[in-house]
Amino acid sequence: MITERTHPINESPVWARLHQHQRATRHVHMRELFAQDPLRFDRHSLELDGLLLDYSKNRITDRTLELLLELADAANLGQWMQWMHTGERINISEKRAVLHTALRLPREASLLLDGQDVVPQVHAELDRMFAFVEQVHSGHWRGFSGQQINRVVNIGIGGSDLGPLTVVEALKPYAHAGLAIDFVSNVDGQHLSQVLAQCDPASTLFIVASKSFSTPETLLNAQAARRWLVTALGEQAVSRHFVAVSTSTKAVRAFGIDTANMFGFWDWVGGRYSVWSAIGLPVALAIGTDNFRQFLAGGARMDAHFFETPFERNMPVLLGLIGIWYNTFYGAHTHAIMPYDHGLRRLPAHIQQMDMESNGKRVGRCGERLDFDTGPVIWGEEGVNSQHAFFQLLHQGTRLVPCDFIVPMNSHYPLDGQHQVLVANCFAQTEALMRGKTEAQVLQELAAISGDELDMLLPQKLFPGNQPSNTIALDQVTPYSLGMLLALYEHKVFVQGAIWGVNSFDQWGVEYGKQLASRLLDEMATGDSGQHDASTNGLVRHYLERKHG
Ligand code: F6P
Repeated sequence: MITERTHPINESPVWARLHQHQRATRHVHMRELFAQDPLRFDRHSLELDGLLLDYSKNRITDRTLELLLELADAANLGQWMQWMHTGERINISEKRAVLHTALRLPREASLLLDGQDVVPQVHAELDRMFAFVEQVHSGHWRGFSGQQINRVVNIGIGGSDLGPLTVVEALKPYAHAGLAIDFVSNVDGQHLSQVLAQCDPASTLFIVASKSFSTPETLLNAQAARRWLVTALGEQAVSRHFVAVSTSTKAVRAFGIDTANMFGFWDWVGGRYSVWSAIGLPVALAIGTDNFRQFLAGGARMDAHFFETPFERNMPVLLGLIGIWYNTFYGAHTHAIMPYDHGLRRLPAHIQQMDMESNGKRVGRCGERLDFDTGPVIWGEEGVNSQHAFFQLLHQGTRLVPCDFIVPMNSHYPLDGQHQVLVANCFAQTEALMRGKTEAQVLQELAAISGDELDMLLPQKLFPGNQPSNTIALDQVTPYSLGMLLALYEHKVFVQGAIWGVNSFDQWGVEYGKQLASRLLDEMATGDSGQHDASTNGLVRHYLERKHG
């Protein structure tokens, strides 16, 4: 097992050299870099199977990239990639391998974990899941009273929700006719109630998706859905209307779901990396098995690129390193993701979980304290809408906010040239952020104004520019290209975690709030305002006084 404590990366000589380099180059404007090098786009863009990554609009020179690549070597990135790829237990705190890439391996591949080939297990489970999908689509799997299933409700949260939700939304053009898919994650009763109001119990199938099958939000929603179904159709209907996706057969049985209707996966699949496993069941139901295979193939294509391409041409490695350049050496606290595609509007939330739950860590893999910032705050919204919301701050605010723009070159819904408007907006934002607007340009625009009014307006109309962005252009959002895109971000997160030296695959930080919530719940039931701080005690008292009934 890998337990050796390595020197924190900030003690490596290249770390100090990167800081020096940042100080020496921080005033260089990207306008100058583009002016000096007409081939900058060609030299700083990469293409893989219809996915273009343009990373030329970044505050980087050849020397920056050289140093960042040295940093990757100093952190032993290649070794960590190899360890992940071959199933070493790199999730040290939980003693687990990290093998979501094995979920995308073709049937003929082989990967040994503790002497057992995991690939046949992966494909056996996929086959079961696909057979079930075919049964539902063909109408062989029917509800208890004989009605065909026309609505699926996935009950899960976190990785058991965001991944499949993102993919189902993005791939709506591939949707199987006659089957609506809903997602319920929030324990707030509104969520389930509003979805159930749209459902007919006789034709609704519930998927209870939980890796642990112990997440209270999911179990409470699942119990409420079960009561709703039993009230309408009786206890015997449950086995025709409830299936489970989990790693725990015992917990699924204890909940009262027939384990014949359970699809499994393994502890070596992290929740936020699990959409490729049976957690993808709602995706397979939505888009069909052939399209799901394409989604896996896209992921596998990006894996092959990641594991086999030299770092200087490796998309996830470059995205990860450039992110570290801003986060660590420029002190940028956030990173924005802007998909210019309505279908991809949940992508920022999915990447947010993937990144922040993975790299939001303050200690290294072996518990050592880290004296530098790690994972950034990931945020974002769909493009164009966000231009009319928060882009003001990106253009003229005081903060450095690196952005990723994601845009398909072709739309499934082109609507008389509207897609071109969308694409033009996307590219224009990257240009404006990079170029800015100079004093000379503004003076020209304000030629008719002078005196105090000019003094007042001139600074307000200036755009500093030099705001970095990556653009990821997909030929079209398809199951394959989406598979590549999600795997690209998964590996980017891995690269950053490996370099900072954190364990990207545990999430102890979410546990404490869960423990306190459960204690507060007990106290609320007994009417005890508890022994907390004055604020928490006061809030509990306030709730107990004000709640109706
Ligand atoms: O929020 C913590 C977390 O453990 C996530 O990592 C996970 O995706 C989510 O809860 C749901 O967990 P489960 O799939 O076990 O219900």
